[in-house]
Amino acid sequence: MRPRLLLTQSIKLLPVLRLRGTRTMSSKPRVYVTRPDVDASGLELLRKSCNVSTWEEALPVPREVLLREVAGCEAVYCALTDKIDAEVLDAAGSQLKCVSTISVGYEHIDVEECRKRGIRVGFTPDVLTDATAELTLALLLATNRRLFEASKQVYNGGWKSWAPMWMCGQGLKGSRVGLLGFGRIGQEIAARIFPFKPAEITYTTRTARPQEAAAVNGRHVDFDEMLQNSDFIVACCALTPETKEIFNAGAFKKMKPNCIFINTARGGVVVQKALHEALESKRILAAGLDVTTPEPLPLDDPLLKLDNVVILPHIGSADIETRKEMSRITARNILAALTGGKMEAEVTV
Ligand code: NAP
Ligand code: GLV
Repeated sequence: MRPRLLLTQSIKLLPVLRLRGTRTMSSKPRVYVTRPDVDASGLELLRKSCNVSTWEEALPVPREVLLREVAGCEAVYCALTDKIDAEVLDAAGSQLKCVSTISVGYEHIDVEECRKRGIRVGFTPDVLTDATAELTLALLLATNRRLFEASKQVYNGGWKSWAPMWMCGQGLKGSRVGLLGFGRIGQEIAARIFPFKPAEITYTTRTARPQEAAAVNGRHVDFDEMLQNSDFIVACCALTPETKEIFNAGAFKKMKPNCIFINTARGGVVVQKALHEALESKRILAAGLDVTTPEPLPLDDPLLKLDNVVILPHIGSADIETRKEMSRITARNILAALTGGKMEAEVTV
């Protein structure tokens, strides 16, 4: 049983308790975290000096809850599934100092609107580069060597005997590989493909990167040349108004019939109906997708009926240590912004 305080003692303590409570409420900045399931290490960092509240379900926060909960916050810790636009910034109020996303992609944040209002935007580049490049290779190899299609045969009785031409794929050796995007992740994908001895690695970007490309003998080409000459095309660029739906029906028509298309960028760079048509009609050989539109892909999506496509649920950076550090960087970005310091990774475009 808790010892009871005498009435006189309680009265003396009352102002102290009230003061403590008031100080906690008023002096600690409020941070809203849109997911409860980010690694706890990031949340612990924030809790040392902030009042942290989180959405309670391990699913994207509903829009109306987000609009309600950000009110009065100094910072929002968000994920790529949260659209942070003027409406959210208005709902938060003029005291909002920082939006920090646990992702390297930031197309879900209206960065220009944040800039106008002096709200700093944090993100998590670099830390996830290796994990995402590794996953891209895994997806490429699963697609070109038909791993899931072949594995299914083991379980459904389709495996009758070793057969000389059964489940053959298309090797990387001697092939032409084209990358749309040659930034942090693109360069690491190229470095991992290079030991497989492709004939050539080409890349398409707005700015040529000859120094970075030298390590893989990479050649800068325009988009059309990449489409027409590649046996493998890997989308690893940022989603921007320019790259949105860049892989449309016209682009798939220009690809070689043996082309294998891999996308670990964003579903938005592809016109998915056109991709489906290209795959179904065997206009291209196969596709490996870590990202789709929408996410999750509905169970009745026609892509799921095709054998020549491998689809993963957006797990590019899903490596345990990577995701833990992403949580901490997202938190440290907020702590730096709240004290007017240098953020570990700030979007400055
Ligand atoms: P980054 O270093 O900024 O690289 C982005 C690349 O996109 C640059 O090479 C850039 O080159 C190129 N690019 C931008 N606009 C272009 C255009 N109009 N035409 C051609 N190329 C263009 O970013 P990163 O760290 O490599 O990440 C790239 C993207 O990967 C992220 O934005 C995110 O969407 C995605 N991603 C996905 C996962 C996943 O789980 N699947 C994980 C992490 C990242 P120029 O600026 O010279 O054009
Ligand atoms: C994942 O897709 C990211 O942008 O970090």
